[in-house]
Amino acid sequence: MALFAVFGNPVEHSLSPQIHQAFARQQQIPLIYQRRHAPLDGFTRAVEDFIQAGGIGANVTVPFKTEAYALADQLTPRAKAAQAVNTLFWRQGQLWGDNTDGEGLIQDISVLQKFDLKNKNILILGAGGAARGIILPLVQQQPAGLTIANRSRHKAQQLAQLFNVQSCDLDDIKPDYDVIINATSGSLQGQSLSLADGVLAHAQMAYDLMYAREPTIFLQQAQEAGCHNVIDGLGMLVAQAAISYQWWHGFKPDILPVVTQLRHEMQS
Ligand code: ATR
Repeated sequence: MALFAVFGNPVEHSLSPQIHQAFARQQQIPLIYQRRHAPLDGFTRAVEDFIQAGGIGANVTVPFKTEAYALADQLTPRAKAAQAVNTLFWRQGQLWGDNTDGEGLIQDISVLQKFDLKNKNILILGAGGAARGIILPLVQQQPAGLTIANRSRHKAQQLAQLFNVQSCDLDDIKPDYDVIINATSGSLQGQSLSLADGVLAHAQMAYDLMYAREPTIFLQQAQEAGCHNVIDGLGMLVAQAAISYQWWHGFKPDILPVVTQLRHEMQS
């Protein structure tokens, strides 16, 4: 039977096996999908072992996405733009790397939330790896504008220059944005962001790339500010997995029932 896995450290809490098994049930195929904990200094070796064992496709999560980017023989344009790889697959004897995170975000917003990003003014909070991974797919939606704001100003400026978008300071954000995407790790650390009053209230959508059982700190902040449409990253998680699945199996899974199932399991 074909072998698949997610590599990470830690990886024990990854929902990827559940998600991929749910997709395999939709396609009615048997599937082996493992969590593989790689040592911090042993990612390449772990992938080699996996290939030896018959592995034909893998997801890669924190902290190995940059190493996976370096390991791949070939890269998709969005993986090149992200400088990070979360999906590995073989084509004609070459190891390909894709980054499906940004496209997963787009799928969630456009298909599940039924929200059209075209001509919208988008703000990304944060300028780390998570932010970098979503910029190109967002720009491809032809928004009216895209601005990056970050606590460390120079990182926002560098990223904005690279992708030919705007940047601004975190404490100088105008209430001009239709969609605000939190790509900082603030929610993970339980820290709220210092944003001017009105910025979140003005937004039609506040989106956190993180997800949790309860609304994240950022989404709570948005709700308290008066934003009524707050979305966490669970849909993005399932959608990015679906794109990986399609590379490996040539089958496009239905993401909505899987998001619904995971949400139910998380809250019970
Ligand atoms: P990731 O790969 O998850 O993006 P990262 O590359 O370490 O992780 O980036 C984390 C991002 O969250 C950065 O943009 C960071 O801002 P700095 O560049 O100023 O460090 C941002 N961040 C983390 N905690 C934050 C907080 N409490 N307030 C504002 N920004 C925060």
